[in-house]
Amino acid sequence: MTKRHQTLGEYIIENQNSFKYSSGELSKLINALRLAAKVVNHEVNKAGLVDILGAAGEVNIQGENQQKLDVMANNIFIQTLRNREIVCGIASEEEDDYISINSHDDNHQNKYVVLIDPLDGSSNIDVNVSVGTIFSVYRRITPIGTPVQMEDFLQPGRNQVAAGYIVYGTSTMIVYTTGDGVNGFTLNPAIGTFYLSNPNMQFPENGKIYSVNEGNYIHFPQGVKDYIKYCQKEEEDRPYTSRYIGSLVSDFHRNMIKGGIYMYPKSSKAEEGKLRLLYECNPMAFLAEQAGGKASNGYQRILDLQPTELHQRVPFFCGSKNMVTKVEEFIQNA
Ligand code: AHG
Ligand code: MN
Ligand code: MN
Ligand code: MN
Repeated sequence: MTKRHQTLGEYIIENQNSFKYSSGELSKLINALRLAAKVVNHEVNKAGLVDILGAAGEVNIQGENQQKLDVMANNIFIQTLRNREIVCGIASEEEDDYISINSHDDNHQNKYVVLIDPLDGSSNIDVNVSVGTIFSVYRRITPIGTPVQMEDFLQPGRNQVAAGYIVYGTSTMIVYTTGDGVNGFTLNPAIGTFYLSNPNMQFPENGKIYSVNEGNYIHFPQGVKDYIKYCQKEEEDRPYTSRYIGSLVSDFHRNMIKGGIYMYPKSSKAEEGKLRLLYECNPMAFLAEQAGGKASNGYQRILDLQPTELHQRVPFFCGSKNMVTKVEEFIQNA
C-alpha cells in the first residue's frame, strides 16, 4: 500500500511482507542504501565548499578519469553495505573486479548481491548540475554459504529483485522498485527523512522529449539518424523537444515524469555505445518496465540480454513505450 507522505522507513516496514522472498533481508538492504544515499547527498551538497571537486588522478576500469566524488561515493556505498553484512557481494562501475563480502563468522549467509554506479553523471559534478546513484539487486544463484562467483553478477536483468536510483537534484530523491511498481521518495534535508512524494510512478505511453548526445550524430547508425530527423520533423505532434543533461539518472527521471526517450546508441567510435549493462541499463530498464515504459538495445529487450562481462556496454533506448517501439522500427528498417 502506498500512502502519500509516509516516510521511506515506514513504507519499507509496511511493505516488507508483501515481498515474495521476504525474510527482512531485502528491507535491511534498502535501508542501508537509504543511509548511504543520505551520506553521499551530504557530500555532494557541500562539494563546492570543500576540496572534493575535480579529478582524483586515477583512471577507472572504464578508461574514465575518476572524479573525487566518484571515489567517495563508491567508498561510502561499499563501506555501508560491508559494515552491515547484508550482502554477499558487490560490483561497482569504479572497481575492477567484484567484491566478495564475508560475514564476521565467515559463513556467507547473505543471499543478495548489489551492483552500483555510485556516482552517475560525474562530468556534471564540477558545474553544479544534478548527478545520481544507480543500484541493482539480485539473489545469488550459487549456494548460500559459499563465496560469491562471477555468475552471481552476470545474470540477465529480468532476474533483478530490486533496482533504483538516487537523484541529487533540486531536491534529493530515491526512486526504486522491488517488482511491484515504482515509488519516489523526496528527502527533507532539514530532518534527514525521505517521504513518499511520487507513488506509483508511470511513464506516459507517448512523450515529446528526446534525449541524446547529438554531438555524436555523425557517428550514429543510419536508423538512429533517421529517428532523430523524425523527431525534428514538423508533422502531427512534432517536432519534439530536445533535452540532454548528460546524467542518465536525471534524464531518465525527467522523461519518466514528462514522457520521453533516452538514447545512447552505438556509434562508429563506440561499437557498443557507452552505458554499462549491469550498473546502468539493467536497473533503468527494470524501473522503466515497472513504470509502464520500455528499454531496448534497438533489437532486443534489455532485461533479456545475457551479460558476458562485468563492465559490458550496450546501446540503450529507454523511455515511453511508443517512442522506444518507434526507434526500434527505424533501426531495424534502416
Ligand atoms: P558515469 O558518470 O557514471 O560514468 O556515467 C555517465 C554516463 C551517463 O550518466 C550519461 O548519460 C552519459 O554517460 C553521458 O555521456 P556523454 O557525455 O558521452 O553524452
Ligand atoms: Mn564513470
Ligand atoms: Mn553512469
Ligand atoms: Mn558513475
